[in-house]
Amino acid sequence: MSATHLKSIQSHARITAIGTYVPSRILSNADLEQLVDTSDEWIVQRTGIRERRIAAPDEFTSDIIFAAVRNMLDRFPVTLSDVDYIIVATSTPDTFFPSMAARVQGEFKIGSCGTVDISAACAGFTAGIQLGNSLLLTGLYRKVLVIGADAISKITDYTDRTTCILFGDGAGAIIMENTGNEKGCLLAAYSHTDGASGHHVYRSSLSSSINQFDIVTNGMLVQNGKEVYRWAVTQVSKGIQRILQDYGFSAEDIDWFVPHSANMRIVEAIQQRTGIAPEKTLTSMEYYGNTSAASIPLAIDEAFKKGHVQPNQKLLLYGFGGGLTEAAVIIRWELTEP
Ligand code: UT7
Repeated sequence: MSATHLKSIQSHARITAIGTYVPSRILSNADLEQLVDTSDEWIVQRTGIRERRIAAPDEFTSDIIFAAVRNMLDRFPVTLSDVDYIIVATSTPDTFFPSMAARVQGEFKIGSCGTVDISAACAGFTAGIQLGNSLLLTGLYRKVLVIGADAISKITDYTDRTTCILFGDGAGAIIMENTGNEKGCLLAAYSHTDGASGHHVYRSSLSSSINQFDIVTNGMLVQNGKEVYRWAVTQVSKGIQRILQDYGFSAEDIDWFVPHSANMRIVEAIQQRTGIAPEKTLTSMEYYGNTSAASIPLAIDEAFKKGHVQPNQKLLLYGFGGGLTEAAVIIRWELTEP
């Protein structure tokens, strides 16, 4: 592709804070061996997961969101009073309405601001970054709180060994601000959806069918693991090639690849297809499982706290999952831990 055909993106946004939280209760592979016919060896080999964090019976998505926001406030000198938009990406809201974003506004007594929850499953956090950047670009908003959070354990069937071994709970929050900087942190974006295949992973609500396929209506997470696996490896690999090519980057330009932590084997297959090195990949599934909209901020924050993620590095964040939906961004990291 010649340089004249390269896409460019407008962004004045800066990420000025990050905070994360996971519940304290650990559900290990040994614990799961007591619940279903499985083994630590099978789970580690097939998924790379050793433990997950599970919300307490009286702990819900709103609670883990509030804890992640408090973690952010404890670590960074940011104020919430001037936040003028809150976006929460979640598939497990405590209630369909009020939204979790409205609950955040109420909890932190934030003044006049917009609030919206978005439903993009495991692609929710990266979709939130894309939308946050767009809101800032309008000039109507200057400070957006973007949160990815899920308590998937609440909708996990612990008699189904093909799903219950995968999922865990967690939350991540960032602040995106328009600091008037011409060169914002968002360097590239890519989105793709295959709605015709949406019935391969779902949680039922009002209807008993998706795409004319009858579905299980127990309100639990249901998936055709093999189909989702195949789709993820094929589509995410293609999407990575697209976002790199469209914006004139190569795999070597990316300092950290942060895919949604669905399954380590999916990530390894994507690495092989795209040439992204394992040592440049950040995941969170080993000790937290698949935390849906929280998996990407959890992986970034863990590496950031260890000093691995440094200012001026380029991060390729790639969310994918229910929909079937993909949302990817390349961002320049500018944050240092105060
Ligand atoms: O966030 C996005 C949403 N979801 C995903 O990303 C999930 C994508 N899919 C996956 O991660 C994988 O497909 C699974 C982890 C769900 C399953 O792994 P797999 O390697 O695709 O296993 P499989 O479905 O091909 O099953 C192989 C065997 C089967 O036994 P038979 O028929 O060969 O005798 C399963 O019954 O493994 C069996 N099996 C298990 N054995 C022990 C399935 N689950 C388990 C288990 N423990 N937990």
